[in-house]
Amino acid sequence: MSGLRAPSDYSQEPPRHPSLIVNSQEPFNAEPPRSALIASYVTPVDLFYKRNHGPIPVLDDIERYRISICGLVEKPVELSMTDIMKLSKHIVTATLQCAGNRRTAMSKVKPVKGVGWDVSAIGNAIWGGVKLADVLELAGISKLTSVSSLGGKHVEFVSVDRCKEEKGGPYKSSIPLIQATNSDAEVLLAYEMNGEPLNRDHGYPLRVVVPGVIGARSVKWLSSINIIENECQGFFMQRDYKMFPPTVNWENIDWSTRRPQMDFPVQSVICSLEEENTIEPGKITVHGYAVSGGGRGIERVDVSFDGGRTWMEAIRYQKSAEISYVADDTSSNKWAWVLFKAEADVSHPTEIVTKAVDIGANVQPENVEVIWNLRGILNTSWHRVRVQVDHPDL
Ligand code: MTE
Repeated sequence: MSGLRAPSDYSQEPPRHPSLIVNSQEPFNAEPPRSALIASYVTPVDLFYKRNHGPIPVLDDIERYRISICGLVEKPVELSMTDIMKLSKHIVTATLQCAGNRRTAMSKVKPVKGVGWDVSAIGNAIWGGVKLADVLELAGISKLTSVSSLGGKHVEFVSVDRCKEEKGGPYKSSIPLIQATNSDAEVLLAYEMNGEPLNRDHGYPLRVVVPGVIGARSVKWLSSINIIENECQGFFMQRDYKMFPPTVNWENIDWSTRRPQMDFPVQSVICSLEEENTIEPGKITVHGYAVSGGGRGIERVDVSFDGGRTWMEAIRYQKSAEISYVADDTSSNKWAWVLFKAEADVSHPTEIVTKAVDIGANVQPENVEVIWNLRGILNTSWHRVRVQVDHPDL
């Protein structure tokens, strides 16, 4: 018993910021205006996107809250919040991105199934908590274990929320044991977001944060951790969040042919402009974010002010625009986005475009058509915004 209660309706939802753009009310799915993302390196909690599959759980009494670690382990354990707080605290700045970010744009090619998201199903936060690798040691699993002594190879996180996709059961997901027990992967059981206790929308009292991996694996309102032989068989691992080629449709889909998506690919988005804009002629500075999965830093962000014919390299930064970012440097936050800016003169109608390159030299695909997939995930195509120029004296 985790002490967490899962309401069956939406009468106990927390208050939310009025400027969030609500993509679905029940369950609550909302993102901030894109301009809010570039206002700060760390996204304020109230403006951070919220992605839910059911009503938000309620914790009446933190004293009663327990997580269990069981399954293929020598020493099953139950931990209270007090036990968790006794472990050494670890802080990670990490970007969380929903695999469905930019789905709306993908659905313009051909309809896709899923909540429509613009470009803000992403945020960067400072997460505080304990390393999962340290917690698993309490259950007798050493660091850097790929197979536990009882044959466990995956770590399943189970919540309590009631999701219709799970036929009213809880949200669950898993990651490989080798990643969970690798201190350097910095997988957290987080109890803080931006220096404050997690709020209900983001997983109070404890959530998983898997840096560099699609948000779906960062299970909120954690109830139990199971060490299992094969990856989690839940809906969100087996029948969702898998990347299919454009040829697969709802008639010929075979979910078993693809693995659950883990790392997210390289991404960049312009946030200082909407999709359609009218500007005065003259100098324009565009700002946006770029990020890649798996801890791969951003080697370059290219911006074009002429629809992709010519490119210039944008300035990249993290904590402050005055300190330039160096991919892979120890001074950089490897799991976090970089913000970028680029400036040019614009006097004619044009398309402004961005594409990022990560340290693996992976680059965003030019067109969304080639990565279209029926669930509309991982739209990382070049981001293009259109600009009309308003000549006041004409
Ligand atoms: N955990 C639970 N228990 N229930 C959920 O619906 N949604 C997942 C993940 N963890 C989800 C969950 C998805 S798809 C994403 S993208 C992230 O949480 C979103 O986290 P956030 O709402 O804190 O931004």
